[in-house]
Amino acid sequence: MIVPTAALARLAYGRYAIGGYNINNLEQILGLFKGCIDSRAPFILQISKGARTYADKGMLEAMISRAKDMYPDAVFAVHLDHGDEKTCYDCIESGFYSSVMIDDSHEPFKENAAATKRVVEKAHPKGISVEAELGRLGGVEEHVTVDEGSAFLTNPDEAVQFVKETGCDLLACAIGTSHGAYKFKGRQSLHFDILEAIKKKIPGTPIVMHGSSSVPEEEVRRINAAGGKLDPSARGVDENDYLAAAKLGVTKINIDTDGRLVWTRVHREYFRDHPEEFDLRPPGKIFVQEYAKFVAQKNEKLGSAGKLPEIRQALQKAKS
Ligand code: G3H
Ligand code: 13P
Ligand code: ZN
Repeated sequence: MIVPTAALARLAYGRYAIGGYNINNLEQILGLFKGCIDSRAPFILQISKGARTYADKGMLEAMISRAKDMYPDAVFAVHLDHGDEKTCYDCIESGFYSSVMIDDSHEPFKENAAATKRVVEKAHPKGISVEAELGRLGGVEEHVTVDEGSAFLTNPDEAVQFVKETGCDLLACAIGTSHGAYKFKGRQSLHFDILEAIKKKIPGTPIVMHGSSSVPEEEVRRINAAGGKLDPSARGVDENDYLAAAKLGVTKINIDTDGRLVWTRVHREYFRDHPEEFDLRPPGKIFVQEYAKFVAQKNEKLGSAGKLPEIRQALQKAKS
């Protein structure tokens, strides 16, 4: 069942976070649905601009529709990740998306707010939620390049003004994370004080944490042992901090890189151990299982595991 993103966020707010998982292909879709059903968790399936081009946007929609039929118990939202205005409108028009993200965080406040407001005006009449971003993450977002030096954190007072002016439903905040595998050298530095201040100033506004992969050392070690060349000092977000962030209003936690690491590890190890093989299906099958296991474990850390029954009940009650 595809449900509004804002409804999921409302139910999770202040209690647990929902995984925003990026998908690009068949195997990720199969693994994601299986992992979320195995762990009885709601989820947000997110599609980036790059994914819509790579797999063809219609192909992705067809695969997701089929997965929905294969897993009738699944409760999830479909979300455009890091969209520009044009792509947001395309997704709103398609009728398939629960929410879109307009990412004009590289623009000054005024322009960012104006674009977000325009998207909200088109999305809300169709029951589609809007995520916007204020502040800049380090690292690279699809159409936004921000080097570590110019990354800056979200200002809580500006966040209040931004939400008020734009009417956006979810706010992505920069609290010290970045996209990709190389987030921190040594200890992580997450700015929970920013979350606390935002929660105090605008209680009830769901916050989104981008760049939340944990980049497990063991995964990096296995990839390198199978021929990879990742920097072994790569560090991500401590998974044990997900719930603490959730209690401070983070309701959507975005995870892409960790899933890519699972894919890389499975395929590198498979072809290292079976150099005579050239069938893509055996490693594909292993990946689906491993990705499902990975997603189920993440959902435990996010606190969303086991929440399906109460979510179903709440959504049913809201309908009647
Ligand atoms: O934040 C970006 C996501 O990891 C999506 O990455 O634009 O390479 O699909 P992508
Ligand atoms: P990671 O690169 O940490 O997985 O972040 C993904 C993300 O923020 C997608 O929007
Ligand atoms: Zn992101």
